[in-house]
Amino acid sequence: MDTTSRAKLAGSAYKDEADLAARQSLYGWQQPRYDLPGIVLEHLPASAASVLDLGCGNGKFLDRIRRERPQALVIGADISPGILAPLPPPTVAADAAALPFASGRFDVVLALHMLYHVADLPAALEEIRRTLVPGGLVFVSTNAHSDKVELDDLWSAAAGDVLGIDNGPRRVALSERFALEDAHRLLEPYFEQVTTVDLPGVITVREPEPVLAHLRSYRAWADEGGVPFDATIDRAHELLVQHIDRHGEFTISCRGGVIVARKRL
Ligand SMILES: C[S@@+](CC[C@H](N)C(=O)[O-])C[C@H]1O[C@@H](n2cnc3c(N)ncnc32)[C@H](O)[C@@H]1O
Repeated sequence: MDTTSRAKLAGSAYKDEADLAARQSLYGWQQPRYDLPGIVLEHLPASAASVLDLGCGNGKFLDRIRRERPQALVIGADISPGILAPLPPPTVAADAAALPFASGRFDVVLALHMLYHVADLPAALEEIRRTLVPGGLVFVSTNAHSDKVELDDLWSAAAGDVLGIDNGPRRVALSERFALEDAHRLLEPYFEQVTTVDLPGVITVREPEPVLAHLRSYRAWADEGGVPFDATIDRAHELLVQHIDRHGEFTISCRGGVIVARKRL
C-alpha cells in the first residue's frame, strides 16, 4: 500500500483537516491522556527563536507553540496546500525532501507523525539536518508496529467476512514505514543524542462511533485495501456492536512516542 503519493496526500488524505481530525479524535478516549504539544513545549529550549513545524497538518502544534512562545518565529510547512489554507501565517507548502529554507535557518524542527509519509526518507532527514543550526533539535513522533493491534484484528475480521475468507487483508498501517521501534536506527546516522519518550495508553469506548470515525479516516487509501471499503466499515460496525454487547466496552492498546535528537555541533 503506497502511503507516500503526493497526489493522494495533498489531493485526498490531507486535502483538508477532516480525516486527520477524525483520526486524532479517537485519542479523546485514551488513558492516560497525553498533552502532546505540552510534551514538545517541555523539551523545547527557552532559547529557541525559530521553529519549523514540518508536516504541520491542521496546526495543533503550531497554534499552541505560537501562543506559549510568542517571541519565537514558528513556521508551518506541509505538502498539502489545502490543509494549510485556514492556518494563520507564516506557512509554506513544501515537500520535506526539498525544503525552501537556508541552511542553519531553524533552532528546532518538528516532524510529528509525518516521516512515514515521506517517499525519500534519507532526503528528508538530510534536509532537516541541513536547515537546523549546529546543536539544533529535531522532534519526531510516530507509533509502534504494535500500536492499535485490536483495530488491525477488527479490520481483518470484517474484511474477511466481506470477502468470505478467514483472514481478510490488513488495514492501512501508516506508521509502518517509520515505526517507533525503528526510529532510533533511522535517525542515528543523521543526529546524535537520540532519546525516546514512550507514550503507552489504552483507548476504551462503550459505543462504536469513535472507532468507526477513525477507520473511515483511512478512506483515501480505500482503493488499495483489496476489499470494498464501505462494506468493511459496515461489517466492522456490526462486530463492534456484538463485542460491546458482550463485554461492555472495546479496548485498543496504543503505543506512540516522541523522539528528540540533536544535530552535531
Ligand atoms: C498524520 S499528519 C500529522 C500532522 C501533525 N504533524 C500532527 O502530528 O498532528 C501528516 C501530515 O504530513 C503531511 N506530509 C506528508 N508528507 C509530507 C511531505 N513529504 N512533506 C511535507 N509534509 C508532508 C501531510 O500532508 C499531513 O498534513
